Amino acid sequence: MKALVTYFSETGNTEKIARAIYEAIHFEKEIKPVQDVQDAKGFDIIFCGFPVIAHSVPGKAANFIKGLPDGQKIALFSTHGSLRGGHLPKQAFEHAIGLAAKAKVLGHFGCRGQVKEKVIDELMKKIEHQAWAEEAQGAAGHPDEHDLADAGKFAAEMIAKLSR
Ligand SMILES: Cc1cc2nc3c(=O)[nH]c(=O)nc-3n(C[C@H](O)[C@H](O)[C@H](O)COP(=O)(O)O)c2cc1C
Repeated sequence: MKALVTYFSETGNTEKIARAIYEAIHFEKEIKPVQDVQDAKGFDIIFCGFPVIAHSVPGKAANFIKGLPDGQKIALFSTHGSLRGGHLPKQAFEHAIGLAAKAKVLGHFGCRGQVKEKVIDELMKKIEHQAWAEEAQGAAGHPDEHDLADAGKFAAEMIAKLSR
């Protein structure tokens, strides 16, 4: 068995989750930023993560997901400033699942990722960012140790699905 953990991360939050997933895999594995993946063929599972940006999937991650081989088993993860389990980050997963039309999505995991206060203040001025930016004020300190532990559990669940 062979796994790829790949991610796009601007400020390091999604990378932390990627590393927790990577640590939870106990067979052949690779970890790489999405822009460094030359060939996505030959993996039994690909974990692909991104930060939610403007309710959606940032371009580099979106292109990677769109280009996945037919029938590829994947598991998606994201970090976001808005509340975990809320409807705001869900939109981005729905978009990512749409992009992955040819792949087989085994599941997805999301948790909060902090945004610098200064950035929130700036984004709050723009109507399209207000909803999530308001929630993001409570994301300080995330991802925390519980988020990382949950990401590890998610990885184990996805791997268990491979043999079903
Ligand atoms: C320009 C910008 C747009 C963002 N848009 C959203 C958003 O729509 N919804 C949300 O929940 N978080 C949003 N965020 C917060 C990021 O998703 C969050 O901080 C994430 O953890 C960043 O991940 P990274 O450190 O891996 O880049 C945005 C952040 C920035 C800077």
